[in-house]
Amino acid sequence: MPTLQKGGGGGWPMPTVLKIHGGNPLKGTIEISGAKNSALPLMVACLLTDKPLTLTNVPNLADIRTIAQLLGLLGVECIEKGDMRTLNAANITSTTAPYDLVKTMRASVLVLGPLVARYGIARVSLPGGCALGARAVDVHLEGLQALGATCELEEGYIVAKAPRGLHGAHFTMRVVSVGATENLMLAASIADGQTVLRNVAREPEIVDLANCLNAMGANIQGAGTDTITIEGVKTLNGATHKVIPDRLETGSYAIASLITGGDVTLTNTSLECLPMVRETLEKAGAVFEDSANGFRVYQNGPIHGVDVMTEPYPGFATDLQAPFMALMGICEGAAMITETIFENRFMHVPELARMGANIQVHGASAMVRGIKHLSGAPVMATDIRASIGLVIAGLAAKGDTTISRLYHLDRGYENLEAKLQACGAVIERHRVDA
Ligand code: UD1
Repeated sequence: MPTLQKGGGGGWPMPTVLKIHGGNPLKGTIEISGAKNSALPLMVACLLTDKPLTLTNVPNLADIRTIAQLLGLLGVECIEKGDMRTLNAANITSTTAPYDLVKTMRASVLVLGPLVARYGIARVSLPGGCALGARAVDVHLEGLQALGATCELEEGYIVAKAPRGLHGAHFTMRVVSVGATENLMLAASIADGQTVLRNVAREPEIVDLANCLNAMGANIQGAGTDTITIEGVKTLNGATHKVIPDRLETGSYAIASLITGGDVTLTNTSLECLPMVRETLEKAGAVFEDSANGFRVYQNGPIHGVDVMTEPYPGFATDLQAPFMALMGICEGAAMITETIFENRFMHVPELARMGANIQVHGASAMVRGIKHLSGAPVMATDIRASIGLVIAGLAAKGDTTISRLYHLDRGYENLEAKLQACGAVIERHRVDA
């Protein structure tokens, strides 16, 4: 049996576990951080210019450090000051994204488009499988080929070449992909001529990237709809841009408030970024009250079962499927949760079952029959959002929950323990001595 030693807020690299004593209603205020999924492509946008790009409201997370490390390897100078990052790609020394970094974070593949657009060549390790399934990058490559790049696989690396630069093109995505939309928008912003991208992702992070690129001098219209038109420009300038609030962190803490019977105000965010999630949670019994800089969320009576299907934005976010499943674990009635984005995103089900949840998986759907209360148990995190689903379950469970493999959580949730402790949660990180 491992022995637990008390830690404090994530000071140790690993191995650590999170110990939660459940049952306390969350009450208080949580400030939402900048969106990780926005900050990553925004940081990559620095590769398109030799002028400094300054981003504010950047969360302090493992994934942000990984992309900064990758950009550093390429020769980008990165100055960090609080939540501000100033990135300068005036002296690029490499166009290779190595396996060691790409394997830890798929979003590394976002450097492909900007590098081939500006330098005519990029070598990016092909991301392997991940906990969520195969997660191909074929649409990224098809789009870059449409823009005039050649893409070949050499020794596990995608080698994209466009010695005479990229040209504008019309391209329709077979699959709605957030990452491919970002990669192609980045690349097309300095391609020669007009690009029209159809069947693109409409996530707020796409709009954030388009706004930043436009502030840098790009000409991008239609972000947030399913068709984006980009008039390529010769060069981009620097800019200063504030990263949007993290809607996935927002949704996660809203669900945490509900599952614990709490009353939490989330600040530095808004309800606008969660249309379908808000509607679903309201059906489950949530009350939302807008406030100046965010909103308050609490439950009005028992939690009801609500069926949900994950879909590209503005549908119900796949990243909130695990937290929502935890909530449905204690609903009155039952809920059918269908995952349409990732084939393998039910890894949290056996862990929730260890906490007593009654869940049957049939293909891409999980039938959750609510029980009175979850019970604390040792569980294992498998990806970022599964991890927060287990934290949320642990906050509501009777007894103690110990969550291992915290590196997933640390990729996506800034100051998690401190934020929850401030609302009365009993949650601490401990080092595990084998
Ligand atoms: C992004 C988000 C992730 C979120 C996901 C879906 C970031 C850093 N990550 O991931 O949190 O869960 O969107 O909202 O922003 N696909 C292909 N071929 C491709 C690309 C994607 O078949 O070339 C498939 C994927 O396997 C998946 C689906 O399309 O089934 C959606 O993936 P995509 O939108 O690309 O996800 P990411 O951008 O990787």
